[in-house]
Amino acid sequence: AKVTYIENNGTEHVIDVKAGLTVMEGAVKNNVPGIDADCGGACACATCHVYVDAAWESKTGTKSAMEESMLDFAENVEPNSRLSCQIKVSDELDGLVVRMPESQH
Ligand code: FES
Repeated sequence: AKVTYIENNGTEHVIDVKAGLTVMEGAVKNNVPGIDADCGGACACATCHVYVDAAWESKTGTKSAMEESMLDFAENVEPNSRLSCQIKVSDELDGLVVRMPESQH
C-alpha cells in the first residue's frame, strides 16, 4: 500500500509499504526521517507519534488502552494522534497520509 509520510517541514515521502508491516516499520526501513521508534515497535516509547489524515482516521482503527496511555508521553497530542507502530498496513490503507509532529524532526 502506498503511504505518504509528511515531515514537519512539509517534505513528503511516498513509500510503498508491504501489507503486514506497521506504518512505523515502513518509515524506518525506508529511512523516512521523523519516526524514531526508539522501542522498536513495542508501544513503549511514543517516538513514533504521527497525525493520521482526517480522511483515514476511521480506517486506521481505534487506539488500544496501551497506546492511549503511551501517547500521554508524546508532545502536542491531538485527537488524530496515533503511534505508528500500532497501525498495520493493509491494502485497505492504500493512500494513507500521516504527518510527523514537530518534536520528531
Ligand atoms: Fe515505540 Fe511505537 S515504536 S511506541
